[in-house]
Amino acid sequence: MTPQIWQEKCAEIRARHGAAAASAATLADLEKAETDCLGRKGELTELLKTLKDFPLEDKKRLGPAGNALKEELAGLFAGRRDSLSRAELDARLSSVAEDLSLPPYPFPKGHRHPLTVITDSMTGILMRMGFAWADGPYIENEHHNFDALNVAQHHPARDMHDTFYVKPADGHEADERLLLRTHTSSVQIRYMRGRKPPVRIISPGRAFRSDRIDASHSPVFHQLEGLCVDEGVSLADLKTTLMQFYTALFRQKVDIRFRPSYFPFVEPGVEVDFSCVFCKGKGCSVCKRSGWVEVGGAGVVHPNVLKAVGIDPEKYGGYAFGLGIERTAMLLYGINDIRAFYENDLRVLSQF
Ligand code: FA5
Repeated sequence: MTPQIWQEKCAEIRARHGAAAASAATLADLEKAETDCLGRKGELTELLKTLKDFPLEDKKRLGPAGNALKEELAGLFAGRRDSLSRAELDARLSSVAEDLSLPPYPFPKGHRHPLTVITDSMTGILMRMGFAWADGPYIENEHHNFDALNVAQHHPARDMHDTFYVKPADGHEADERLLLRTHTSSVQIRYMRGRKPPVRIISPGRAFRSDRIDASHSPVFHQLEGLCVDEGVSLADLKTTLMQFYTALFRQKVDIRFRPSYFPFVEPGVEVDFSCVFCKGKGCSVCKRSGWVEVGGAGVVHPNVLKAVGIDPEKYGGYAFGLGIERTAMLLYGINDIRAFYENDLRVLSQF
């Protein structure tokens, strides 16, 4: 083939396939026309393959012209595809009767879980009262969960019955037994170690105990830990703090009562009750006719705990509290079974 014949063939392909692109009536026709021209065995593709047989000088001239033609035709096919697709869509839309003025189908929106709602409220109040946020891991060692908190080796809380112990992964060795933290008090140790008072923190989060499930117990539950260590901190500060906290949470005046109790990491230790907001202390089914509702444990930080984290107990004192978040939510929302928080029943959850 001479260069001139090659150029004439190009012009002829341009005219014939350009016309085929412009006149294709459907997307299927267009695809066939494009394959005939630009496909692997298409007419232009085959012609371009013959370039290799020309001398170098001719190749330099004909090559760019051939590529320009290929691009031009590809552009024509693409342009036609756009207009055919748009026309097909217009035809489809005009054939269906759609009333665009109808209101949209009601789409249920997700929202925060009630335990997240109450945790945010509880932490929000305490942070406005000057407490900072602290965090700790769910998988703990015995040191942080028990030893440094003055819980003796033989204390029943360490018994397998209460604690979920964790086996280290194969190939890993732990210096101490690992466990799922049984309370958020482990964060007290993690936070105080290496810091100097004043300390004022809260730490909400999950805790795990091998407790039997019933209306007020779950093996996975949430606590809110509070810790304040400074010079001259007393039990009176703890009582005032909790009274102000519950008054803000329940949006009504709440009274606090301490009952003596035992936790190895506080001395004295107390169970915290607050005056029943439902019957105003007269006695109802929520407070079991006593007028008081129990919410958690608290007390004055034991000197051994301060010593364990390198804080001088002669100079500093402090208080700590651990409140059950589910129990607080049950009171605030009037829910009488803790399982309601975990069953994912939308009839319950959608009320919050
Ligand atoms: C503690 O866990 C102490 N760490 C609290 C504490 C902190 C005392 C700081 C002193 C100083 P207790 O085991 O009583 O204490 O648990 C505290 C609260 O967690 C309980 O009052 C209850 O509200 C909640 N709680 C405990 N076990 C469960 C459970 N299985 N399911 C739901 N809530 C629970």
